[in-house]
Amino acid sequence: MTDKTSLAAGTFAGARARIQDNASRGLWSSRWVFFLAATGSAVGLGNIWKFPYVTGQNGGAFVLVYLACILLIGIPLLMTEVMIGRRGRANPDGAVARLAREAGASSRWRVVGWLGGLTGFLILSFYLVVAGWALAYVPATFSGGFAGVSGEASGELFGALLADPLRLVVCATLVLAATMLIVGFGVRGGLERSLRFLMPGLFVLMLVLVVYAAIEGEFAQALQFLFVPDFSALTAQSVLVALGHAFFTLSLGCGAMMVYGSYLPEGTSIAKTSILVALADTAVALLAGLAIFPLVFANGLEPGAGPGLIFVTLPIAFGQMPLGQIVGGLFFIMLVIAALTSAISLSEPSIAWLTERFRISRTKAVLGSGLVLWLLSLGSVFSFNHWADYQLFGKTFFDTLDYLTTNWLMPLGGLGTVLFTGWVLQKQVVSEAIGIRSNGLFLAWWNLLRYGTPVAIVLVFLNLMGLI
Ligand code: PFF
Repeated sequence: MTDKTSLAAGTFAGARARIQDNASRGLWSSRWVFFLAATGSAVGLGNIWKFPYVTGQNGGAFVLVYLACILLIGIPLLMTEVMIGRRGRANPDGAVARLAREAGASSRWRVVGWLGGLTGFLILSFYLVVAGWALAYVPATFSGGFAGVSGEASGELFGALLADPLRLVVCATLVLAATMLIVGFGVRGGLERSLRFLMPGLFVLMLVLVVYAAIEGEFAQALQFLFVPDFSALTAQSVLVALGHAFFTLSLGCGAMMVYGSYLPEGTSIAKTSILVALADTAVALLAGLAIFPLVFANGLEPGAGPGLIFVTLPIAFGQMPLGQIVGGLFFIMLVIAALTSAISLSEPSIAWLTERFRISRTKAVLGSGLVLWLLSLGSVFSFNHWADYQLFGKTFFDTLDYLTTNWLMPLGGLGTVLFTGWVLQKQVVSEAIGIRSNGLFLAWWNLLRYGTPVAIVLVFLNLMGLI
């Protein structure tokens, strides 16, 4: 066989396998559902809990660098991951291996896929714990526990939650059980229903909070803090955090968007959908910043207070505003659901991998990984109480997991993905798979993928290691 015919035969076999997979794996019922699911994955604790606190810790030009990372690295990579999933029609490991085979490259590239799945799994173990905090705040807010609370008292209430391992374990376990139940029943059915009301509802509540913060808080100071860059405060470490957070918030570098892409029907515009997902995600994060920082400044709180920031700040607002008990309770319910839709996407790559690679049932995969996740989550729970003093390089188990996965493993997974796509796959195959009609746009994306994105990620790593 000539090269061309073998390529054609390979492509044909690939296409046939894809059609069979489509029939057995099922697809999103429409591109609207895919948009909802991808947005559900992207919008979560990262936007409402993490974005404000890392911004508070890094200050200065952090928001600007973060937005640049979203635009120049996040969106192109999001498109790439969805494309690999749709073309490979399998879990991330299988999808990458299949595309590598089609391109005549080593199937070792599948490491990009399974490393992503592992990263997602590790993230999920601490994500559950933070979602558990939000869950604990639902009854606390509805019951009026925060009425008229001061900044200091609110800090004490949050401290009391962290000091109570039993409450933390119960809440994290409930979140884990809900996640695994939905994943067990199949992602597509359960997700679609919950997302339809969640996204608009969350958006409206965020707006209510921003309006409240604008009236009652130090809005001008917050605007200045968020949007007037102070480059003197920018360090190599904060650039890494901005990059890592761009990955975290768009669910990149850990297989989630690949696996969601693998259920995407042909014919949907990957570029348009990815841009819309990134826009919605960024909008929610900025709204969270605009809701929280005016209150932080008005109540004399410390912007760099760390992971507890929203759990200390928002109850002050809920304790003072009219109908705050109800608005606050609803807000924390929405936060839990937003976290759930992200948690589902964090677990789906490894569940799909277990069922497709080892041919075990979905139930077994869910129970097995649920148990391991639960054990791992105990490490994060105890980081705030029993094990608070056991630290590695000044970081607890929770901090270490967060730092390693978000700032190193996710960008590393992203780097592998762009190198694989830009340098291993054939341009023609990629062009067909991504389906961008305008040649100019395709080339802009392609070159960003081949040169811009990998160079940027490597520069950030080298800079942090003190090598440049
Ligand atoms: N993007 C989610 C958030 O911002 O909360 C977190 C996340 C979900 C990260 C899925 C990674 C992932 F694969």
